[in-house]
Amino acid sequence: MSVKIAPSVLSADFGRLAEEVRAAEEAGADWIHVDVMDGHFVPNLTLGPVVVAAVRAATALPVDVHLMIEKPERFLEAFAGAGAHLLTVHQETCPHLHRTVERIRELGVRPGVTVNPATPVETLVEIAPWVDLLLVMSVNPGFGGQGYLPGSTEKIRRARRLLDTLGRGGAELEVDGGVDASTAGEAAGAGASVLVAGSAVYRHPEGVGAGVRALREAIRRSPD
Ligand code: DX5
Ligand code: ZN
Repeated sequence: MSVKIAPSVLSADFGRLAEEVRAAEEAGADWIHVDVMDGHFVPNLTLGPVVVAAVRAATALPVDVHLMIEKPERFLEAFAGAGAHLLTVHQETCPHLHRTVERIRELGVRPGVTVNPATPVETLVEIAPWVDLLLVMSVNPGFGGQGYLPGSTEKIRRARRLLDTLGRGGAELEVDGGVDASTAGEAAGAGASVLVAGSAVYRHPEGVGAGVRALREAIRRSPD
């Protein structure tokens, strides 16, 4: 299975956002990951639909939007209108998760669902048949540059088993947080199909191209 790389623009230079997005595309990235934070669900504030539209305009790659916001249903239409290809919501923010996921699909966007490190992936059993993507958070969401939490690899393995058991092996299994050349291999080996990487790409000392290459190499050397 070929594993996708989704650079997170959270660690990019926002003064040169379009250029940074293009650099990732030229380096061979598969998706562009955009982190939306509201200062409530997570202790940081980032960006909204206007910036998602700017990212979309800068690239032909799928734009993968990760909503770390309370009551995300208020903004689904705006992010769909901004050109998001995938919209991922947190299970912890959606009391009516199935309704939210169906709304995303009605808007013509691929729905994803994610869980924080302390939320068992087993809480996604009922929603998994309805989504195109499960995201396992391997850090507590809110900031780039944190370390990959021990236990994440085992959780990815359980998420992979869950998808396969449900006959949803074709859905994407994404991992986000602390993914770098030292952790990408184990995440991919455990069954992840998309690796999000912010600092490992945008803060790589030799540039974005070297960052993406180092991740590819780590994936290539992973077991399986
Ligand atoms: C964390 C975000 C991540 C972040 C990852 O809350 O969801 O997407 O950008 O950054 P790194 O790869 O630096 O951990
Ligand atoms: Zn993210």
